Amino acid sequence: MCGIVGYIGHRDAYPIIIKGLQRLEYRGYDSAGIALYDGNDIKLSKTKGKVSDLKERLENEISIDGTLGIGHTRWATHGVPNDVNSHPHYSNSGDLVIIHNGIIENYDALKKELIKRGYTFKSDTDTEVLVNLIEDVKKNENIKLGKAVQIALNQVVGAYAIAVFDNNKPNEIVVAKLGSPLAIGIGEDEFFIASDASPFIEFTKNAIYLEDEEMAIIRRNKGVKVRKIKNDALVDPYIQELQLNLEQIEKGGYDHFMLKEIHEQPEAIFDTFRGRLLSNEAMIKLAGVEDNMKKFLAADRIIVVACGTSWHAGLVSEYIFEDLARIPVEVEYASEFRYRNPVITEKDIVIAISQSGETADTLAAIKLAKSKGAFVFGVCNVVGSSIARETDAGAYTHAGPEIGVASTKAFTTQITVLTLMALRLARAKGTLSSSEFRHHLIELETIPSKVEEALKSDAYVQTVADIYKYATNFLYLGRGFNFPVALEGALKLKEISYIHAEGYPAAEMKHGPIALIDEQMPVVVIATKKGHYEKVVSNIQEIKSRKGKIIGIVTKGDVSVKELADHVIEVPETLECLTPLLTTIPLQLLSYHIAVMLDKNVDQPRNLAKSVTVE
Ligand code: F6R
Repeated sequence: MCGIVGYIGHRDAYPIIIKGLQRLEYRGYDSAGIALYDGNDIKLSKTKGKVSDLKERLENEISIDGTLGIGHTRWATHGVPNDVNSHPHYSNSGDLVIIHNGIIENYDALKKELIKRGYTFKSDTDTEVLVNLIEDVKKNENIKLGKAVQIALNQVVGAYAIAVFDNNKPNEIVVAKLGSPLAIGIGEDEFFIASDASPFIEFTKNAIYLEDEEMAIIRRNKGVKVRKIKNDALVDPYIQELQLNLEQIEKGGYDHFMLKEIHEQPEAIFDTFRGRLLSNEAMIKLAGVEDNMKKFLAADRIIVVACGTSWHAGLVSEYIFEDLARIPVEVEYASEFRYRNPVITEKDIVIAISQSGETADTLAAIKLAKSKGAFVFGVCNVVGSSIARETDAGAYTHAGPEIGVASTKAFTTQITVLTLMALRLARAKGTLSSSEFRHHLIELETIPSKVEEALKSDAYVQTVADIYKYATNFLYLGRGFNFPVALEGALKLKEISYIHAEGYPAAEMKHGPIALIDEQMPVVVIATKKGHYEKVVSNIQEIKSRKGKIIGIVTKGDVSVKELADHVIEVPETLECLTPLLTTIPLQLLSYHIAVMLDKNVDQPRNLAKSVTVE
């Protein structure tokens, strides 16, 4: 939540920061602000709204000169989104200015203490408390900014990625990290600060990712010094070469990132199994599984922890692991698991799934599982993310940057990794014969081209979207492997079109939801061949006799559902366990087109953020 950007060097900071904030808007977009040092003074502007609103306002409002600056795009935690609560925040003297991503949990106690010492507050934010705490420490102890930041942070409970500078010493920016990501781009006599590397990728490929409880003092023309916040120890930072490129973070001719990412799925799925799925040799190579095979084989069960769409991928994996590898699986919302005093033993394998690798609840669930002795395996997309680092081993999804807030290619690539894992374990356990194993590998290899084919339904899906765009409710039904896909389809529609939608196992309909069905209710039913087809057809008949409108997701060449449904969208045939990788595609397209037709902000739906670093 929240994106931060900073620059110190020889170029104009303003264009770098504004563009950087636009790239980070996926992290939060309810308000934005910027502070620049123009050679004499700090110039600060902030506003409720998007970075484009800030840009419009700012160019008339303040001087945009200066080679040092910081900027922020916010997802509100403490205090409603308004101009005053937007970042950056000044300290009382006006000397210090700060941006912050995270939450200071003990801000209330700190604030009361500061009020006693005469400090006043304009905003309701925890961040204004932090900047005044730093100021208070700095004044009382008569020390430099870096030291003051360090002492103040040792009094803070919570999570943060901060950047702060001092009007009286405008040749340095101090940054620090705990729980929220922070990257420092290293250029030639210039430095960039950002929540991820996208704001500086066209300027440098070299970056330091601060670890938790580290801070850095970044000095113009001098360099970066990294220290431990707790004990002041100097750290020799690892400078990483970034693999990201500019095309990956631009729309590339698509109207929205979401549409681009939906269309990237054939390639993303291919990238996920490239070098891992070797059908000629009848092998799957996943280093994280291979290196820990003994643990996997000895495991009593797998517990999956995740949130949102990643949780849905976890649910799909429950069917896959149990069916192929015969390992019992439990799938848990990370937010419930972490507070439930769950029974976990050293014989459990915990799989944490996360696109961003930063989700606070998933991270906390991992820490809990580790503290109980479980082996934790991460399935993440963002390389080097907190969850990737916190887990004992893992496998990246290699989906490339996902910028649209609604998750699409992250979901299908997560399922791909989990399928590879299940297949590898099935082979090791002997629950699949070698010919069955090989058959699965060959079929998995065809999935990218089948996704490509499924994407061809786009024009027809648009027609369907146009018919139902004004519906106020939708039901999504599926069975078996496709029950979680029904949940995911409903989530996609809700989050970007704001239409109420529910996903159900198709057979559960008669235990309640059937009461909702009338001629106004569109029901999306996943009815692929195999997968309890006849039973789903019976469910469709039940809907039909109550005049519900049926949109069937069917296997190419289907006959029975076509006769009953109002619309059918075909996907290619594949093995039952792989159908989620195909049935998901038309559901993503349906929600996308409905949202576009309703003129919603598809890439940045209201109230959401891409990485949820608060619980
Ligand atoms: C929905 C969506 C969210 C995320 C959830 C977990 O489209 O994107 O539900 O799936 O916030 O995020 P990660 O996967 O980053 O842990």
